[in-house]
Amino acid sequence: MRLNMAFSSVGTALLCALALTTHLTWASPRTFSIDYQNDCFRKDGEPFRYISGSIHYSRIPRVYWKDRLLKMYMAGLNAIQMYVPWNYHEPAPSHYNFSGDRDLQHFLQLAQDIGLLVIIRPGPYICAEWDMGGLPAWLLNKKDIVLRSSDADYLDAVDKWMGKLLPMLKPFLYQNGGPIITVQVENEYGSYFACDFNYLRHLSQLFRSHLGQEVVLFTTDGAGLGYLRCGALQGLYATVDFGPGANVSSAFAAQRHAEPHGPLVNSEFYTGWLDHWGERHAVVSSAIVAKSLNEILALGANVNLYMFIGGTNFGYWNGANSPYAPQPTSYDYDAPLSEAGDLTDKYFAIRDVISLYSKIPEGPVPPSTPKYAYGAVKMKRLQTVSEAADLLSFSGPVKSAFPLSFSEMNQYFGFLLYRTKLPVDCTTPSPLSSPLNGVHDRAYVSVNGVASGILERDKSITINITGKAGSLVDILVENMGRVNYGKNINDFKGLVSNLTLGSEVLRDWVVYSLAIDEAVSKGLLHEDASLEAAPPSHLSTPTFYAGSFSIPDGIPDLPQDTYIQFPGWGKGQVWINGFNLGRYWPSKGPQVTLYVPAHILTTAAPNNMTVLEFESAPCTEGACTVEFTDTPILNATITHTAANRRRLFSKEDLS
Ligand SMILES: *[C@@H]1O[C@H](CO)[C@@H](O)[C@H](O)[C@H]1NC(C)=O
Ligand SMILES: *[C@@H]1O[C@H](CO)[C@@H](O)[C@H](O)[C@H]1NC(C)=O
Ligand SMILES: *[C@@H]1O[C@H](CO)[C@@H](O)[C@H](O)[C@H]1NC(C)=O
Ligand SMILES: *[C@@H]1O[C@H](CO)[C@@H](O)[C@H](O)[C@H]1NC(C)=O
Ligand SMILES: *[C@@H]1O[C@H](CO)[C@@H](O)[C@H](O)[C@H]1NC(C)=O
Ligand SMILES: *[C@@H]1O[C@H](CO)[C@@H](O)[C@H](O)[C@H]1NC(C)=O
Repeated sequence: MRLNMAFSSVGTALLCALALTTHLTWASPRTFSIDYQNDCFRKDGEPFRYISGSIHYSRIPRVYWKDRLLKMYMAGLNAIQMYVPWNYHEPAPSHYNFSGDRDLQHFLQLAQDIGLLVIIRPGPYICAEWDMGGLPAWLLNKKDIVLRSSDADYLDAVDKWMGKLLPMLKPFLYQNGGPIITVQVENEYGSYFACDFNYLRHLSQLFRSHLGQEVVLFTTDGAGLGYLRCGALQGLYATVDFGPGANVSSAFAAQRHAEPHGPLVNSEFYTGWLDHWGERHAVVSSAIVAKSLNEILALGANVNLYMFIGGTNFGYWNGANSPYAPQPTSYDYDAPLSEAGDLTDKYFAIRDVISLYSKIPEGPVPPSTPKYAYGAVKMKRLQTVSEAADLLSFSGPVKSAFPLSFSEMNQYFGFLLYRTKLPVDCTTPSPLSSPLNGVHDRAYVSVNGVASGILERDKSITINITGKAGSLVDILVENMGRVNYGKNINDFKGLVSNLTLGSEVLRDWVVYSLAIDEAVSKGLLHEDASLEAAPPSHLSTPTFYAGSFSIPDGIPDLPQDTYIQFPGWGKGQVWINGFNLGRYWPSKGPQVTLYVPAHILTTAAPNNMTVLEFESAPCTEGACTVEFTDTPILNATITHTAANRRRLFSKEDLS
């Protein structure tokens, strides 16, 4: 029965067209609405179907926005879908940033100039494999806050943020002359445990109060009745998401259960899939994507391809899944446009399918950007983090009987250094432990400057250490990205519970907030003349390295994009000219190369690179180099822990 309904939307397109004639005599203004009688959208009175693609401006440098959008337009898309990550724009309460790479309105304007409509998803929660699903970590300053619910403090922060954001979006609504045709409320709320209808109702009213009664608001949930139960709300048009290989008619039947009439919409049709460190790189074949896309379009349904271009989690922006599994720096997603915006076979396969239903714009597709292999760069060792602690801690260390978390230290990303002394002689190996699994997320432990091991959330809660009473214990804790999905998104970072030595709780800590990004930008780190060459070791303490390279003369069109790789290095973070490119972890994989966009490079001076290596650099054997290549490697899993653990919505029997 539902299947019939789905097919009937194709047949009624004609009816929609007839109704148009009467409408046009009014010389109608710009309108965008849902036609429940004829199961379609209407744009300016005419039946309308979108074929859209997801792009996240926060994962692409601003200089490349236009190139990527144009490639999307040339694939035959008539719309894009985008999230707004709250934490990207409000890094601290009431401190907003909408400039440079965060200039959301500029991005909207570019989309409109190119001829693309916009489906916007302002959250507040977005998932998106983005730190904490886009929620600002400072919300955790209230320790027992219930995120994504009617918790008063949460709603208060949401109201303030939306009071800032939604008025900025209003002039970009279609009916106000802009590109935005629909606005999503929350994101896959039906997959969250809280199931708080008062919260959804509050958001619905909040969005209406800022954006007006006319705008089409919608929700997106997994294509199963179990998801739609808590995700759909009267007044918000319910849409579903599902990937290739799903049974298209039964997936839309789930949407029909929530919306017996109106357009069929798949808000996230997966072109690829996300990665985690230590798991195989996800690959989805073009053939299966093309086949499912064809089925969806044949039904007359609206579709958004998630992702059309994935881009990059620069800096510290990646999220994580639970049990703790952080996503890598690349968000390539095996999408039709690569991480670097390059055209792939999948791009052309999708374009061919679209051309069966819609006219592809004439003219050449913008080419892939050229890449240049700048070659090997020699790195020299600078200070260790422990040696540089005072210099890196702008606010000075804080004394505390027990460890303080990132939020207690008022720092939200990066690294904290915890220092204490061994209370007793540990002449034989003694267990240093986090009994409550409270290392969030990875702790590099040293005693008197010598590396003694790594504690890691959900993986390693005990190591043995040795040393005399009074020895200095330094523990650098890396925040590897907050959980972005499920019930564990209240993801506190740092040492969030006590450490024990034997049976004794360790006390009397000194905690250093580390302003590493600022120190790198300002060039504060230096070589320490007193440093002896570190003895060869499979594990060293976290150490900075620096190198520089010049762009060759006499070659036209340089600088170009490139990829950096770390042969023989362990795990770390890398900056070029102060720009934080993200995390590398070639010993884990699957990602081996990091994308380096050309705009951070210069021909005017040597380019300065800083590396913070946590485990071990190949610098005692002389081969202390990193290397620029022209080819990405994203699929070289070396330490393989598990197959792709979570397939969203594969538990079809929630319905
Ligand atoms: C705002 O964001 C841009 C782009 O990331 C950045 O360059 C700039 O420094 C930020 N501004 C402030 C005040 O933090
Ligand atoms: C898809 O599901 C419908 C029931 O909703 C079923 O009739 C049909 O056979 C299924 N198609 C395939 C290819 O499995
Ligand atoms: C710690 O050392 C003890 C005694 O040598 C040994 O039995 C134990 O396996 C070690 N634990 C770890 C985590 O290495
Ligand atoms: C650490 O242990 C002390 C003493 O047992 C206790 O008071 C404190 O609450 C603990 N801290 C955490 C974060 O568990
Ligand atoms: C790199 O550092 C050198 C030495 O401090 C400086 O002269 C040069 O301008 C820096 N390069 C860039 C791109 O900032
Ligand atoms: C990795 O990807 C490349 C390029 O697509 C391919 O040639 C290679 O076979 C892949 N390697 C693995 C281990 O899957």
